[in-house]
Amino acid sequence: MTSRKKTPETLRSARWFAPDDLRSSGHRSRIMQMGYSPDEWLDRPIIAIINTWSDINPCHSHFKQRVDDVKRGILQAGGFPIELPAISLSESAVKPTTMLYRNMLAMEAEELIRSHPIDGAVLMGGCDKTTPGLLMGASSAGVPAIYVPAGPMLRGNWKGNVLGSGSDAWKFWDERRAGNISKTEWIGIEGGIARSHGTCMTMGTASTMTAIAEAIGMTLPGASSIPAADANHIRMCSEAGRRIVGMVWEDLTPQQIQTRASFENAIAVAMAMGCSTNAIIHVIAMARRAGHDIGLADFDAASRRVPVIANIRPSGDKYLMEDFFYAGGLPALMNRISDKLHLDTLTVTGRTLGENIAGAEVYNDDVIRTTENALYQEGALAVLKGNIAPDGCVIKPSACEKRFFRHTGPALVFDDYPSMKEAVERDDLDVTADHILILRNAGPQGGPGMPEWGMLPIPKKLVKQGVRDMLRMSDARMSGTSYGACILHVSPEAYIGGPFALVRTGDMISVDIDRRSIHLEVSDQELARRQAEWTPPPPRFERGYGWMFSKHIRQANDGCDFDFLQTDFGAPTGEPSIY
Ligand code: FES
Repeated sequence: MTSRKKTPETLRSARWFAPDDLRSSGHRSRIMQMGYSPDEWLDRPIIAIINTWSDINPCHSHFKQRVDDVKRGILQAGGFPIELPAISLSESAVKPTTMLYRNMLAMEAEELIRSHPIDGAVLMGGCDKTTPGLLMGASSAGVPAIYVPAGPMLRGNWKGNVLGSGSDAWKFWDERRAGNISKTEWIGIEGGIARSHGTCMTMGTASTMTAIAEAIGMTLPGASSIPAADANHIRMCSEAGRRIVGMVWEDLTPQQIQTRASFENAIAVAMAMGCSTNAIIHVIAMARRAGHDIGLADFDAASRRVPVIANIRPSGDKYLMEDFFYAGGLPALMNRISDKLHLDTLTVTGRTLGENIAGAEVYNDDVIRTTENALYQEGALAVLKGNIAPDGCVIKPSACEKRFFRHTGPALVFDDYPSMKEAVERDDLDVTADHILILRNAGPQGGPGMPEWGMLPIPKKLVKQGVRDMLRMSDARMSGTSYGACILHVSPEAYIGGPFALVRTGDMISVDIDRRSIHLEVSDQELARRQAEWTPPPPRFERGYGWMFSKHIRQANDGCDFDFLQTDFGAPTGEPSIY
C-alpha cells in the first residue's frame, strides 16, 4: 500500500470549500441546504459515483440499489459520496447503435468530474459501451477512479436448455427461419434467455470489456467475474467505495495504473478469454486516451502468442460467465497465463497485478483450460490487410468454421442494411455457400456509428439447405455474442470512399487468415477507374450531436474516438486555469 500523499488542504475539493470568500461560502451553504453538516463533508474526500443506471437498461437495473452499497463503503472510509447520473447506453434499446454515443458518455464522465468538487470517482457501468466510455472519461479527467462492473446475468434457461445471451438468439432464430421452432416456443426463449439483472453472460463485449478493465488494473481483483445477482457483488460494491477513499489520499490516479504494459496485459487477457472483436476498437481508444500508441498490430501479435483458454460461448461451446466465476474467475485465468503478463503493473488496490493474482486457483479445468489443453492455441482475433482494406479489418477465427481460413469466392454486394435484409429472405436470391456477402456503408460515418450488423444473416435459401456459416464482410461491427466467418471493421470504410466502396457483385475476393491477407481480385487500373467514378453520398446529419460526430469521428483502426478528445490534441490533459 502506498503512503498518504494528500492532506485535507490539498484535496481538489478544497478549492471549492476551503477559501474564506463569498464564492466558497455559497458552495458550503448549498451543501448544508441539503441537510449535511460540515462534519460530514468538510476536509473529507468527495467521491463522485458516476452511475449509468436507468429504467431502460436491464443490465444496470440493480445499480439503483448497488449505489447505496458504494455509498456505504465511501462513508465507512471517511469520504463523502455524491451520485452523478450519466447516460445509460442500454445496448438493447438504443438506436441506431450505442457506439454513436460511447464518446458522448466519455465526454460526460470527464466533464462531470472536471466541473464538480470531486476528489475521486467510482464508475458504475458494464453494458458494452459504458466500460470504455467511463474509463476514457476518467482517464482524461485524471482524478483517482475505480471501476465497478455490473456483473453478468445468470445463465439463461428454456425447456432444460442453457441459453447464452445473443449467441443462442441467433442460433435459434435460424431454426425458426427454417421452420423448426414455433412462435409460442420463441416467446418461451425470449422469456428464458435473460432472467436476471446484469450484463450478457456470454463472452460478449460486456464481459470482454469488464475483464479488460480488471486486467488494466482499474477494478478490485475478481470484480468483473462476479454474477450481478450474487451477494459477492454487493460486497464488492461497498469495498470499492472504501477503496476509492484510500486512493484519493494516496493520490493513485489512472495515469499511474494505465501504462502501456497494463494495456498489453489487457490485450493478452482478451485473447485468452476469446474476446469480442469490439475490444479492438475500445482498447485502442482507451489506450490512446492514456497516451499509449496501441494499434491493430498489438492485437494480431498477441493473438499469435496467447491461446484461448476460457471455454465460454461463443468461442467455447459449453459454458457461460456464471460457470467462469465458479471456476475461479479472472484472477485464476490471469494466474494461468501469468508468464504472458507484466506482473509488476500497478492496480487500484495499490498492489501489483502479480500480487493480486498470486495463489488464485482454477476449480474447473474444463471451464478455464490449461495452456497445453487450450481451446485454440492461437486465433482469438486476426487482423487482415489487403487492397480492399489497406488500414485493416478483423475476423474471429475461433468463432468460425475452419474451411473459411482460406477461401476465394464471388462477392454479393449490398449498399445498405434494408436491401440486404430484404434480399436474404428471397428464395430466388442468386447466392451459393461459396459467396462472400458484403454489407457496406455501415462504418463509423456510414452506419452511422458502426452498428453491430456484421453478422449478416445467412440467406434463407441456404439456411433451408443446412448452411449455417459462410464468409461475410462489412465495415460494421459485430456483437461479441455473435459468431461465424464474419470479416469486420473494414478500414477505411466505404462511406468515405475507401476501396471497399469499389467492390462489385461477382468480383472475386481471396481470404487467407494464416497469411493475414485479403485481396480483391481486380486490377489496379480497373480499381482506379471505379474510384474516379465514385461520388460521395449525402451527409447523414446536418445538425446536432450527429453532425459533430460525423465531423470528428476517427476510423475503426484508430479506435473511433473524436479527434479533439485524443490525448495528443491541443493542450495536455489537465484543468484550464479558469477553474
Ligand atoms: Fe447490456 Fe448485452 S445488452 S451487456
